[in-house]
Amino acid sequence: MKQSAKPLESFKLSEQAKGIQDRLSAKIQSELFKQDGKIPFSQFMQMALYEPGLGYYQNNLHKFGEKGDFITAPEMGSNFAKCLARSIRQFFHDSPSTEPTPSRVLLEIGAGSGILAVNLLMELEQLDALPDQYLILEPSAQLKNQQKSLLKKRLPDYFSNIEWISQLPEKLQGLILANEVVDAIPCERVRRVDGQWRQLGVSYANGDFNDCLMTPVDVDDLPSLLSRECGENCYPDDYTTEYRPLAKGWIKALANSLDSGAILLIDYGYSESEFYHLQRVQGSLRCFISHHSHSQPLQYVGLQDITAHVDFSQIARIAYENALEISGYTSQAGFLLENGITEISDERAQNQTPEQRYQTSQELQKLLMPGQMGEVIKVILLSKNLETQIKGFTLQDHLHRL
Ligand SMILES: C[S@@+](CC[C@H](N)C(=O)[O-])C[C@H]1O[C@@H](n2cnc3c(N)ncnc32)[C@H](O)[C@@H]1O
Repeated sequence: MKQSAKPLESFKLSEQAKGIQDRLSAKIQSELFKQDGKIPFSQFMQMALYEPGLGYYQNNLHKFGEKGDFITAPEMGSNFAKCLARSIRQFFHDSPSTEPTPSRVLLEIGAGSGILAVNLLMELEQLDALPDQYLILEPSAQLKNQQKSLLKKRLPDYFSNIEWISQLPEKLQGLILANEVVDAIPCERVRRVDGQWRQLGVSYANGDFNDCLMTPVDVDDLPSLLSRECGENCYPDDYTTEYRPLAKGWIKALANSLDSGAILLIDYGYSESEFYHLQRVQGSLRCFISHHSHSQPLQYVGLQDITAHVDFSQIARIAYENALEISGYTSQAGFLLENGITEISDERAQNQTPEQRYQTSQELQKLLMPGQMGEVIKVILLSKNLETQIKGFTLQDHLHRL
């Protein structure tokens, strides 16, 4: 996601945005009222992002791309999708097409604007590896409509093979893909206070939502690094971080749905030891509004994205507990380079204007540079009865870090 140095105070809100903010704030306040004035942060984040009609991903304000709040890798151009297509090409090319249950199914979770589906399917067609069916699981009614109109316009011949589903299918044979979805699953926040972990909640006073301390956390619920007995490396008071209990049910549901094939999750994140590093005293929670990145989730309710990085060790552990194999873990840069991003862009450059070549080089820098998306975004491959190779995990094999 792109950041800029715009000061937070400078946003002028439209009347529509103000209306959404006011109505959503009132709903959250009424929830607070029912729960003695405090709700867990995860409940606030759930409502701020997903409250029907009002939450950030549910309202009809613009979100993706230059005119929105942030830019994801597939929104920057088609190189990300082209590499992804090369990674999964063999899977769809080699699997036999079966009837009546298709075995070459690609399920995208949280498809955003729909642009990844467009570019991925176009490239898979070029590579003679189109899936029989492309499923999209998207909880946002507004984004679903946006995806439908984009895909209908850009892929009219394939459109009848695309289906929007509202729950995970049973016995899926194929591939599940989610780019920047896990970081949008609500998380809990905890803070070290007087040598104890306290859950951070949300309260309301004098027109503002505020952080508040909830009861001490049961250490068995915490990531193991946080719950270990503290020696001299004990986390200091005020150390604030996040963890994501909801990931457990989410991964379990994917594992149960998959009969054979693979799950590719691409997201901002680290292994547990990097995530809960002693120096990461403020955690990873970030908010995005008009390409401004900040760490104040209680502001601009319903008008900004709220994300927290993914603990990939947690994802791997849950996957293992649910009979999935952890088949690969790498950085976005490693994944894209192994799938030929430089060769793809060099080849395209031959037919491009200088301006287009400049844009491609900007795109590649953002996707690959360590200070941008190259290192902090990771790709994990989980699988079940997988017989073909998914490419991209040998150039920079980070499995040992999990
Ligand atoms: C940051 S956007 C990423 C969109 C897109 N994948 C991309 O890379 O541009 C997060 C997406 O995940 C969806 N989402 C959030 N929680 C979800 C969940 N539990 N299941 C499925 N989709 C979810 C949102 O509605 C949105 O489409």
